[in-house]
Amino acid sequence: MWPLKMIVLVDSLVVPGGQQLLLQLTESSTLAFRGTTKFGFAKWKGNLVVITGCNITVYGEKDSLLDGQGPLWWDGQGSWGNVTKPKFFRIKNTNNSIFYDINIKNCPMGCTQIELSENVTLRNWKIDISDGDEGVAPENKFGHNTDGFGISKSQNILIEDAVVHNQDDCVVINSGKNITARNLFCYGGHGLSISDEGSVVEDVVFENCTVTNSENGIHVKTCVDAGHEQKFKDLDKKSTELKSKIDFNQKASGRGSNDFGKLSLAVDRDSDAGLKL
Ligand SMILES: *[C@@H]1O[C@H](CO)[C@@H](O)[C@H](O)[C@H]1NC(C)=O
Ligand SMILES: *[C@@H]1O[C@H](CO)[C@@H](O)[C@H](O)[C@H]1NC(C)=O
Ligand SMILES: *[C@@H]1O[C@H](CO)[C@@H](O)[C@H](O)[C@H]1NC(C)=O
Ligand SMILES: *[C@@H]1O[C@H](CO)[C@@H](O)[C@H](O)[C@H]1NC(C)=O
Ligand SMILES: *[C@@H]1O[C@H](CO)[C@@H](O)[C@H](O)[C@H]1NC(C)=O
Ligand SMILES: *[C@@H]1O[C@H](CO)[C@@H](O)[C@H](O)[C@H]1NC(C)=O
Repeated sequence: MWPLKMIVLVDSLVVPGGQQLLLQLTESSTLAFRGTTKFGFAKWKGNLVVITGCNITVYGEKDSLLDGQGPLWWDGQGSWGNVTKPKFFRIKNTNNSIFYDINIKNCPMGCTQIELSENVTLRNWKIDISDGDEGVAPENKFGHNTDGFGISKSQNILIEDAVVHNQDDCVVINSGKNITARNLFCYGGHGLSISDEGSVVEDVVFENCTVTNSENGIHVKTCVDAGHEQKFKDLDKKSTELKSKIDFNQKASGRGSNDFGKLSLAVDRDSDAGLKL
């Protein structure tokens, strides 16, 4: 950790395995990535990059790339395998900020997590994990659990003009409020998901997104035992083109189980739930 002022440039940095690139930016500073930022191998949980700050601007210069070197970890098992894999890019405790033109390749596991943040825009991101596809990666060495964008405990979040080619959720909203994903092209993964943290997810808009060659278009998971704490409100799909199915799943047993039982319209649980699909 070190104090950072105004304009910070990360230029062709090679981060050794097991080390975290922790960027705690002072208020109103700007951070740019130049060239290829690479991360070495170590079996650990990560994150490989953590950024925090308020009123910050973070962007990637032309032809810049954050290369997670996922193939060093991939075993086709994601978070289930024997190899502990780091999550990649975490935006945390960040308010009133913008992250744009970020180019990410080959996350070992989850690519981007946004948490405990408010008023954050992510614009023009490319997340390309196509090297991890089955049939592209060597046998039993494919990517898994490579979520594109995961959002928790955050509000007023906008993700726009992004392309994600991966092997898990394109966007997954675990908890939060007023979250919009628009103009997204999602390929190869599990689609746009609302997950099962057992807390409130409110005001979600998926607008002008294309989800193709994916396990689901929109996937809503709920927990049977979440009681009144879990509430979906105002999920709106505006002109989103889904070439994959819409799926409402309700988990058959408690959290931690991977056993989902189907339930149509779990969202109706709350009478004021506005679901426009
Ligand atoms: C940070 O952004 C908020 C909202 O735009 C603004 O009210 C505040 O004055 C900004 N703070 C600084 C130090 O610029
Ligand atoms: C994972 O570890 C367990 C126990 O150490 C072993 O039985 C299993 O074969 C390992 N799996 C893989 C895929 O290496
Ligand atoms: C972000 O804003 C929220 C709500 O105003 C506040 O609770 C939180 O402390 C702020 N975060 C930071 C890092 O300033
Ligand atoms: C986020 O934006 C809203 C709407 O502009 C504003 O009311 C709120 O104060 C902002 N939050 C923070 C933490 O600055
Ligand atoms: C909801 O988030 C958007 C950004 O996507 C922001 O412009 C808007 O002000 C937020 N609404 C409220 C009520 O804070
Ligand atoms: C919809 O999203 C696509 C990107 O997938 C973009 O090219 C197009 O301009 C968007 N349409 C509108 C009306 O914003």
